[in-house]
Amino acid sequence: MDILGLLGSAIWFILPAYVANGAPVVFGGGGPIDGGRKFSDGRPIFGPGKTVRGFLAGLVAGTIMGAIQTAITSQTLYILVGFLMSLGALSGDLLGSFIKRRLNMPRGSAAPVLDQIGFLVVAIVFASPFSMPSLEIFITLLIITPIIHLATNYGGYKLGFKDRPY
Ligand code: CTP
Ligand code: MG
Repeated sequence: MDILGLLGSAIWFILPAYVANGAPVVFGGGGPIDGGRKFSDGRPIFGPGKTVRGFLAGLVAGTIMGAIQTAITSQTLYILVGFLMSLGALSGDLLGSFIKRRLNMPRGSAAPVLDQIGFLVVAIVFASPFSMPSLEIFITLLIITPIIHLATNYGGYKLGFKDRPY
């Protein structure tokens, strides 16, 4: 496969996860998922950056992306994969915040690799019973996701959705 074809296939495959990961920045806010509760170490479980509304918005938006892929291809499986991939992306994002809080990193701090790759890997694991990327698509995603993540975060910062550029 040529480079452009590989890039296109990789992005097409992972689109619901990207949408699920980006939607909370725009539609999130309100009550935190952990209800403000603390873990046994006295620090927040996930912290105030992980809200119920953001999680649900990501799940709905990512699933809609899967539905659009179904509409384009006439393959129903895309909706199911879109839903699972979104659930995985949002769970991976929560897991990342959980790890950051255990490491005493405040909400909004930058955790290189974890912030950009955590949601990706868990999204792929959740979707894997129904759709597995080839090894070359997986490697492509490991390379392009941090770049796209940082670029869209910077865009979200410039547009006023985020108060930090990363
Ligand atoms: N967001 C949300 N609900 C989620 C995930 C994200 O409302 N489940 C919103 C929050 O406003 C959050 C923003 O999207 O601040 C950016 O998300 P992210 O960078 O993942 O969170 P951080 O604020 O950096 O928090 P953390 O340090 O826990 O990653
Ligand atoms: Mg962040």
